[in-house]
Amino acid sequence: MIERERRQAVFARGKPETRWQGEPLLGSIYGEEEVDAAVSAIREAMDVSKGFGFTASPIPEFEQAFAAYVGTKHAVSMNSAGPGLDMAMRYLNLDADDEVIVPAVNFVAAPLAVAGVGARIVWGEVDPHTLQLDPNDVEEKITPRTRAIFAVHMNGLSAPMDDYLELARRHPHDAHGPLAVIGDAARACGGGYKHGKIGKAGLLNVFSFHTMKNMTTLGEGGMVTTDDDDVAAYCRSTRFYGGATDVWGTSNVMTKVQAAVGLVQLSKLDGFIAARRALAQQRTEWLEGVPELALPPDPPDRLHSYYLYTCVVCDAWAGAQRDELMRRMDEEFCVRCVVANKPVYLHRAILREHSGGLPLPVSENLGERILCVPIHPAMSQEDNEYISASLIECVEGLR
Ligand SMILES: Cc1ncc(COP(=O)(O)O)c(C=O)c1O
Repeated sequence: MIERERRQAVFARGKPETRWQGEPLLGSIYGEEEVDAAVSAIREAMDVSKGFGFTASPIPEFEQAFAAYVGTKHAVSMNSAGPGLDMAMRYLNLDADDEVIVPAVNFVAAPLAVAGVGARIVWGEVDPHTLQLDPNDVEEKITPRTRAIFAVHMNGLSAPMDDYLELARRHPHDAHGPLAVIGDAARACGGGYKHGKIGKAGLLNVFSFHTMKNMTTLGEGGMVTTDDDDVAAYCRSTRFYGGATDVWGTSNVMTKVQAAVGLVQLSKLDGFIAARRALAQQRTEWLEGVPELALPPDPPDRLHSYYLYTCVVCDAWAGAQRDELMRRMDEEFCVRCVVANKPVYLHRAILREHSGGLPLPVSENLGERILCVPIHPAMSQEDNEYISASLIECVEGLR
C-alpha cells in the first residue's frame, strides 16, 4: 500500500494532465501507422473499378489474421459486436418459451439479443470474486427449455468456458442436444484462457472494436470467431442480406478502411494488453492491504486483459458509501470511476419483461459495490500512482 508520506509526495507533483475516466473514450492507442493504413485504403477505393467493395481487400486478410490470432478456423467481420450477438441468437432458431441463461451483471447487448428473438432471458448470478457468470447458479437455472449459456468475458477476464461446456454436455436439450455456449468477448479482446486466447472456447465468441475497446477499427467494428463451418457461413450470409445461404439478413458489413486499420491495431494488441497488465499489477501492489477494497483477481489459468480495473468495495460500503467514494475521486482528485455494471434488468424495463429467475441477491448487491478505476495502455506510471494514491486517500477519508 502507498503510505501517507509517499501519497503527499505524489500529490505534490500535481494532477495528471489527462482527466482519466473509468472507461476512457479511446481504449487503444492510435499512431501514424493507422492514419497511413486508412489513407492508403481510401486511395485504393478511389478507383471506380474497385470502390470500397464489401468484401474488398484487406477485409479477408483482417479476418484471417484475427482467426489466426485467436486460433479459430473462422473469423467473420462486421460493423459492431451487437449484430454478432443478434446473429448468435438467430442462428439458434429459438422459440418463445426457449430459455437462454445470461449473467445479470452485464452490458445490455447480450440480453437484448435474447429479447430480440423473442426468447426468454434467464438471469444467472455472477461469481462475486471474478464477476463471471457463476457455473453453480447456471446449473440450478437449467431447465428442459434451456437452449444456451450466453456468457460474457466480463471486464476483460475470461469466463470459465470449460465449466459451462461441461454443463452443456451434461444437460442436453431433448431435441437440440448439448446447450450452445456463446461468449460475448466485447471487452476481452487480447485476453487469454488456459493455453489459448479468449474467443476459441464455445460455439462462437463475439468481439467489439468499438472506440472504448482494447483495439478499435475507427470507433466501430466487430468480429465473430468460431470453429464451426455452419455458424461462420450463417454469419457471413446474414451480415449481407442473407444471400449466400438464402436466410434472413441485413447489412452489417465492415468497411475496407476499418479492416486496414484493424490489421495495424491487431499487430499492436499484445503490446496494449501487456501495458494494461503492467499497470494493473503495479496498481494491485499499491492498493493491497486496503481492507475496504477487493481488487481484481488475476487467475493463473487466464490472461486478464484488464479492459477495466474492477474493484469491489466491502459490503458495509455498498450503495451510498461507494457512490460517495466515486464522488470524492471525481471532485477532489479529478479521477472519474464507473460502475460496470449494475444488473441490467434494474434499469431496462424491456429486459425485466422478458425475465425469469429474479431476484438475484448476489448480483444486486455487487451492483452496489462495483467500482471501476481508470486504466489505459497509454497511462504513465506517475498517473497510475496518482490514481492509486487518490483511491487510498478517499477510502481513508471515508472510514
Ligand atoms: C459486454 C459488451 N457486449 C457488447 C457490446 C456491444 O459492442 P458494440 O458497441 O461493438 O456493438 C459492448 C460494448 O459496449 C459490451 O461492453
